Amino acid sequence: MSEISQNLADSAAATPGGSVVTAHRLNRLLLTGAAGGLGKVLRHSLRPFASTLRLSDIADLGAAGPDEEVVPCNLADKAAVDALVAGCDAIVHLGGVSVERPFEEVLEANIKGVFHVYEAARRHQVGRVVFASSNHVIGFHKQTERLDAASQRRPDGYYGLSKSFGEDVAQFYFDRHGIETVSIRIGSSFPEPVNRRMMSTWLSYRDLTTLIEKSLFTPGVKHTVVYGASANRDLWWDNHAAAHLGFEPQDTSEVFRDKVEQQPPVAADDPNAIYQGGAFTAQGPFGD
Ligand SMILES: NC(=O)c1ccc[n+]([C@@H]2O[C@H](COP(=O)([O-])OP(=O)(O)OC[C@H]3O[C@@H](n4cnc5c(N)ncnc54)[C@H](O)[C@@H]3O)[C@@H](O)[C@H]2O)c1
Repeated sequence: MSEISQNLADSAAATPGGSVVTAHRLNRLLLTGAAGGLGKVLRHSLRPFASTLRLSDIADLGAAGPDEEVVPCNLADKAAVDALVAGCDAIVHLGGVSVERPFEEVLEANIKGVFHVYEAARRHQVGRVVFASSNHVIGFHKQTERLDAASQRRPDGYYGLSKSFGEDVAQFYFDRHGIETVSIRIGSSFPEPVNRRMMSTWLSYRDLTTLIEKSLFTPGVKHTVVYGASANRDLWWDNHAAAHLGFEPQDTSEVFRDKVEQQPPVAADDPNAIYQGGAFTAQGPFGD
């Protein structure tokens, strides 16, 4: 075990049966992208897991609540990210461009951003990162394929490329510096699935929170890649390689099936019916 992952493990206690029970509470947890769709949810649902939640975004976060710190920061600013990370025990990295955009925007927020987060983690000896990766790192696989963590990455755009880069950064910082990461390839995390594709990719907020909790507190994750989806009927993804996280989703898109299937069928040649990444596979290039 690396020196810097020792901090997390120190809060874990072995039971007489040999299994490990974590205290499930950090001193200070950093949440980037805290003003975004998922950040707003996790600002509340991750509250029990840290004495202090440090919230950051480039967008307005409002006033700090009890046991919260609000630290505005542009992820493209290396010095600002370094100051942001100081004093944190773990990072949930959600911040950045979350849809397909021109490369230059993705470069600043996601590619430079993820590098800055890991450099700061190294400098400040943060031992654990949860990285919000995306299904768009494998978006050009067909919906008829079944993937696991070892499947070839086939990014479906600049955004997907940036998440693929982020996963490589996570692996590098584990191999070189012992910083552990769980990269969650989030499917579609919204209040409910809003189209047929999302019947396979939907991840409820409750299951997302559980998966992040497991990702923060499971000892010895090294760099784990896990697909973030609820217990949907027609899943494309196999999480056997992340079984050590013990993630068992509680929700399923099935309860929304009748509502979703009232929508007109998707044409057979529509990317939403062909590729796991859906419409992202057909966006851009920009500015021609
Ligand atoms: N919601 C999903 O279904 C889904 C699916 C796959 C991956 N993800 C990933 O999860 C994360 C959160 O997703 P979301 O749906 O909440 O996205 P979002 O766009 O609502 O939130 C992203 C946040 O990052 C902030 N941000 C953008 N550029 C920044 C910069 N340069 N510096 C600092 N902050 C910056 C934005 O202001 C925003 O608040 C993202 O990384 C996204 O790529 C989400």
